[in-house]
Amino acid sequence: MKGLLVLLVAMVLSLNLYPQQKTNIIIKANEKIANVQPTMWGVFFEDINLGADGGIYAELVKNRSFEFYKPLMGWTVKQSKFNEGSVRIMNRGKEVTSNPHFLTVSKNEASESLSISNEGFRGMGIKKGIRYDFSVMFRQQVPGLILHIELLNSLGKVIGTTELFPSAANGLNWNKQAVSFHSTDSAMKASLKISFEGSGAIDLDMISLFPEDTWKKRPGGMRADMIQLLADMKPGFIRFPGGCVVEGPDLSLRYQWKKTIGPIEDRELIVNRWNFEFAHRPTPDYFQTFGLGFFEYFQLAEDIGAAPLPILNCGMACQFNTAELAPIDQLDPYVQDALDLIEFANGDVSTKWGKVRASLGHSAPFHLTMMGVGNENWGPQYVERLQIFTKAIKARYPDFKLVNSSGTDPDGERFDYLNQELRKMNADIIDEHYYRRPEWFLANAGRYDNYPRNGSKIFAGEYAAQSDKTVSINNQNNLQTAIAEAAFMTGLERNAAVVNLASYAPLFAHVDGWQWTPDLIWVNNLESYGTPNYFVQKLFSLNKGTHTVSALKEGKPLTGQDSLYASSVIDTLTNELIIKVVNSSNMNQPASILLEGCKHLPLQAFVTTLKGNNKELVNTIVQPRAVVPIESTIPMKGKNLAFVAAPNSFSVIRIKM
Ligand code: AHR
Repeated sequence: MKGLLVLLVAMVLSLNLYPQQKTNIIIKANEKIANVQPTMWGVFFEDINLGADGGIYAELVKNRSFEFYKPLMGWTVKQSKFNEGSVRIMNRGKEVTSNPHFLTVSKNEASESLSISNEGFRGMGIKKGIRYDFSVMFRQQVPGLILHIELLNSLGKVIGTTELFPSAANGLNWNKQAVSFHSTDSAMKASLKISFEGSGAIDLDMISLFPEDTWKKRPGGMRADMIQLLADMKPGFIRFPGGCVVEGPDLSLRYQWKKTIGPIEDRELIVNRWNFEFAHRPTPDYFQTFGLGFFEYFQLAEDIGAAPLPILNCGMACQFNTAELAPIDQLDPYVQDALDLIEFANGDVSTKWGKVRASLGHSAPFHLTMMGVGNENWGPQYVERLQIFTKAIKARYPDFKLVNSSGTDPDGERFDYLNQELRKMNADIIDEHYYRRPEWFLANAGRYDNYPRNGSKIFAGEYAAQSDKTVSINNQNNLQTAIAEAAFMTGLERNAAVVNLASYAPLFAHVDGWQWTPDLIWVNNLESYGTPNYFVQKLFSLNKGTHTVSALKEGKPLTGQDSLYASSVIDTLTNELIIKVVNSSNMNQPASILLEGCKHLPLQAFVTTLKGNNKELVNTIVQPRAVVPIESTIPMKGKNLAFVAAPNSFSVIRIKM
C-alpha cells in the first residue's frame, strides 16, 4: 500500500503538476503607486483582413460603385441572347472625379432575359426574417426597365425577393431609390441578383444592400455582432484607421480623412494596400470604399465609450513600400489636415469644420484629446516632419497630446535612434510595437520597470505574440500566445505611471479573407468569436482599476519567478482590490498572497480564470468557446489568500475591501 502511494506521488511529480515551494506575494493595498489612465486598455482598428469593407461595415454588395480596377469585379452578367454593349461600364471622369464609373444596362426586347449578380465579400451572410434595404442610384436613359431583386443561397434557391420600379421623374438626373424586403431563410454565402424586365436603358451606380440589424439599427451602419464584441471590452480608446493603411504604398494611396466624410457616393475609393502586400495572401478585390469614414469612427468611439485616437499620415508613404516623401516645402496640406481634424472633432459649430461635423448630424464635440502623427515611420525624415507637425499643432492646441512613432520594432538601431530623438523633443506619447514570439513577451514583462517616470509616456500601440514568425500564415491565436501577452500586460499595468495606452493588433480577421494572422477577433459572414487573446484583453480592460499597488515577491515584482507574473490595482470607485496572476508553466503554482493595509476583508475572493491544460488550444468558428474565462470563488483567511495558479492560466482576483 505504502509502495503504491510512493509510486503515485512519484507519478504526480513526474507530471510536474505540483512544484515544491509556494510563492509568497505581498500586496500593499493601501499604498497607491500611480493612476491607471482611463485610456489604459484600448483597441486598434485597421481595414486589414476585411476589417472594414466586408467586415464591420455592413454593406453586402462588393464593388457597388464599379470603381475597382476591374469595374465588373464581383459582378456576373447573364443574358439569354448576347447583345454587344447591352451592359457597359461608362466613365464620367471629368464630371465626377470621386466616383467616375457607372453601369449602363439597355434592353431592346422585353422577351430577352438579362441579369447582373453580385457575389458579396466571400458571399453575403443573410439571416432569416431580417429586413434588407436595397438602394440604387440611377438615371433613366430610355424609361421602361423594372428591377427584379432576388437573394439566392449558394444552391440558387431564392431566399428573398422584391421589385424596384425606377421613377421616371428627373429623367436626365441621377436619382436614388430604395426598397426593402425580408429574407425567408438564412445563408452563409448568398448572392444578389438583379434581373431587368421590359425594355429600355438605365444608368446604375451605388448598388447597395444592408441588413436592418446593424449596430444601433443605423441605416447603412456597422455589423452589430462585431461591434458588440468591442463594446463588451469597454475599451479605453479606439485607434483608427490603422496601421499601414494610414501611410499607403505611395502618397496618392494614403488615408485622407477629408475624403471619407459626407455623402457616400462622393467618397473616393482607393485600393487597400493589403490587396497586394503579401504575395502569399493576395486579395485582389480589397479596396477601401470609405463607406465607413472618420465621422463613423468618431461616432463608434462615442458609442462604445472609447476615447478616439486617429492616426494621420505625416507626409511619408509606407517605408516597406515606396517610402515616398512629401517634400518639406509641400507638407502644409498634411499639417492642415491634422489641424482641421481637431476642429472637425472639437470645434464649435460656428467654425468651418465644426459646422461640417454638425451638418453630418453631430453638433456636440467628439472630445478629441490626442492624435498620432505617422504610423510606423522612422529615420531622420520622420523626425524632421514630426517637428513641423508638432510645432503647428501645439501652437494652436497646446494641451493636445501627440502620439509619435518609434518605428516597427521595440529594439534595434531604428528604435534606439527614434527613442533618443523623441525624448529630446519631449514627445508626449511614444508608440511602441511588438510582434514577437511568446518567449519575448515573457522575458519582457519587466520592460518598463526602469523606464523614466517623468519623461514621455508609452503607448503599446500594436502587439501580438506570434506562435510562428511575424506575418507567417501559420500563426495561431492559441492559449500560449494569450498567456504570454497576459504576462507582458502585468508589466504594462505595473508601469501605468509610464504606460498610458495599450492595444493588441490587428483587431479583426475574416476566415475567408485575411492577410495577417494572429488577430484578436475572427468572423465569417454571420458569426464572430473572440480568441483566447481577446479574453485576455477584455479581462484587463474590465478590471482596469484606478490606481496601481505593489505585488511583490521578496521585494521584487513578479516577472517570471516560478513562471509567475503578477500585478495589482485598486478600484477606488468600487472599493476593490484586483490582483492579476499569470502562470506560464504547465504545472500548478501555489502562491500565498498576503494583503497588507486592508481592513474588513471578506470571507471570499472572486476569481476569473482563463486556462487550459494544452497550450495549443484555440477557439474556432465551430468551437468558439474552447478557451473562455471561468468564474469561481476562493476562501480568504483574514489577510491571507491561498491561491493555486493553474497551468497555463491567467487569473483575475477581485476582493472587496
Ligand atoms: O497590424 C498589422 C500591421 O502591422 C499594421 O498595419 C502596421 O502598423 C504593422 O506593421
